[in-house]
Amino acid sequence: MPEPLIQLRGINKHFGDRMIYRDLQLDIFPGETLVIMGGSGSGKSTLLRVLMGHVKIDSGQVLIRGRSLDDMDRRELDSWRKSVGVLFQTGALFNSMTLRENLALPVREHTDLDDQTIDLMAQIYLQLVGLREHIDKLPAELSGGMKKRGGLARALMMQPRILFYDEPTAGLDPISTAQIDELIMNLKDKMGTTSVVVTHDMQSAFKLADRLALLFDGKFAAVGSVEYFRTTADPLVRQFIDGRLDGPFVNPSDQCSYKAELLGRKIQEVPHGKKTT
Ligand SMILES: Nc1ncnc2c1ncn2[C@@H]1O[C@H](COP(=O)(O)OP(=O)(O)OP(=O)(O)O)[C@@H](O)[C@H]1O
Ligand SMILES: [Mg+2]
Repeated sequence: MPEPLIQLRGINKHFGDRMIYRDLQLDIFPGETLVIMGGSGSGKSTLLRVLMGHVKIDSGQVLIRGRSLDDMDRRELDSWRKSVGVLFQTGALFNSMTLRENLALPVREHTDLDDQTIDLMAQIYLQLVGLREHIDKLPAELSGGMKKRGGLARALMMQPRILFYDEPTAGLDPISTAQIDELIMNLKDKMGTTSVVVTHDMQSAFKLADRLALLFDGKFAAVGSVEYFRTTADPLVRQFIDGRLDGPFVNPSDQCSYKAELLGRKIQEVPHGKKTT
């Protein structure tokens, strides 16, 4: 086993009273594609922000090549952030800028490449995600899937060796999904990119993953190979993968009694992820 690129050690995190992580552990190895799954609100997007050092944790450590984010000075932290391309859940393009301008921005800010080179790069990456003919459009003129692909092209502009994808194919048609999956696999094979992919799409997950990790109740309840996730009898994994309604997995948003809330009764506190019965 190579040294992990990223290590999460005993991470605890609350937002107010709400527990997000408790003693969360995970290793991410260089060159692998790790797929993170979990219910809505389980803390997947937050985890990507923790890895970037954008969310303060209560305790525990995030180690990058053995070095704690807490020990990094501004310059080191910036250089870590620059080495990671992030595709945000919503694409996160700037609304007032065209695709061309959106793609040019990070490169203009972080390198001293000339404008003509940057523009050529923008065209190449937009071609890669099938958007070159839309280069001068504003995000408002694009569909949800196009925005997502635009966000991916922008993330690729810095030629990152590490990519975090937050639901890269959610809301895309099957062909666009297959194209994005193909792109993620190509980046891994040809560039040796390390990828962390958050997805609800089981078909994509099984296609892309070297390993999968299921986030549940503040921890990774299961981490393993595609083979393990396909065959395990673990009821939590089975319920999540097979999309069954009965089982140990409860969506955090289902935890409060809707009726009790409507009637103004005091809602009984339930531990995260447990049934309310
Ligand atoms: N800045 C914040 N302040 C307070 N609460 C937050 C903040 N960011 C996230 N949360 C809460 O933390 C929980 C986890 O949010 P997160 O966005 O990580 O979930 P997720 O697993 O990505 O969900 P989804 O699958 O719906 O995208 C949610 O309950 C959310 O409301
Ligand atoms: Mg999310």
